[in-house]
Amino acid sequence: MDKQKIMMEFCLLFAAICSSVSSDEWKANVVKSIDALVTSCVVVPCSFSYTGGNLPSSKLRGIWHEKDGTKKIIYHEDPTQIKDNFKDRTKLVGELGQNNCTLEITEVKDHDNGPFCFRVELVRRENNDPTKDMFSFVEDCVELKMLTQPPKPAVINLKTATQGEPYTVTCSVIHTCPSNVPKLTWNLDSTKVIVHHKDIKHGNWETQSILTFIPEEKDDNSEITCTAEFNGGLKSSENFTLRVKRVENYNHIIIPSVVGIGSTVAFVLVCIFMTKKYKKRIEELQSRDGSMWNRLSRMSHR
Ligand SMILES: *[C@@H]1O[C@H](CO)[C@@H](O)[C@H](O)[C@H]1NC(C)=O
Ligand SMILES: *[C@@H]1O[C@H](CO)[C@@H](O)[C@H](O)[C@H]1NC(C)=O
Repeated sequence: MDKQKIMMEFCLLFAAICSSVSSDEWKANVVKSIDALVTSCVVVPCSFSYTGGNLPSSKLRGIWHEKDGTKKIIYHEDPTQIKDNFKDRTKLVGELGQNNCTLEITEVKDHDNGPFCFRVELVRRENNDPTKDMFSFVEDCVELKMLTQPPKPAVINLKTATQGEPYTVTCSVIHTCPSNVPKLTWNLDSTKVIVHHKDIKHGNWETQSILTFIPEEKDDNSEITCTAEFNGGLKSSENFTLRVKRVENYNHIIIPSVVGIGSTVAFVLVCIFMTKKYKKRIEELQSRDGSMWNRLSRMSHR
């Protein structure tokens, strides 16, 4: 009996603790790891939720700090709170009122690897006196993988081009700086180029350039290069050698054959005409002077 009572009390206590903790629950969802190219920018996707209802941006304060200390602040609405080497380089691009805590770091430096964590504070302003009441949830952190060299673009092309027919080449590059996307350029001018930007999740973006042109005979064996210039100025490129299949010119065969056939036809026509003409002549001779013909033939027999 006693044991049961103790168990029940324990359960009640446990339930009470659980409900009090989970009543207003905060949850953050920060991408765990993201590539960051030095000198460029990086945008870290982040979202959070609060079961206590939607709160306006004015009541929320989003802070990003280094994992090893809540005072090592890299982003704060009050710039004086930000560590010197992150001043003017961080921006909250997400709307806190829309539960979006997306962070942008510009001019990425090779020691910006983090981890960086997001925390939110609930701000209570009473009589315009900003006294804050801090409610913070389990922090969620991101690690930046530093890239000192930009990734190479990927070029997709058909093996051979055909002279005079439209030919398409695609160049694409992956990046994490959607606020200042890389520029893709080709070493060809006066061409049709279409550019696409695509969110490929987890903070990665793809910039794609589709080039269409009409190759000529002289373009055979020429080098086609796609260059990506990233925010901050770093560049990378990829190239390939174009092979142009010639469209055979059959004139050297067609013209002589047309001439050949034509002259053959003309020759045959002449022959038919001549035969008809002579036949008539022979018949005329035979009918006009039979004896003469007979004599001639007899003479020839001898
Ligand atoms: C958060 O804000 C960023 C920057 O404005 C935006 O690109 C992203 O789509 C937003 N995320 C969500 C889940 O709305
Ligand atoms: C073309 O690419 C190759 C290998 O990626 C590289 O060695 C070469 O220098 C490039 N050529 C030009 C003209 O960029």
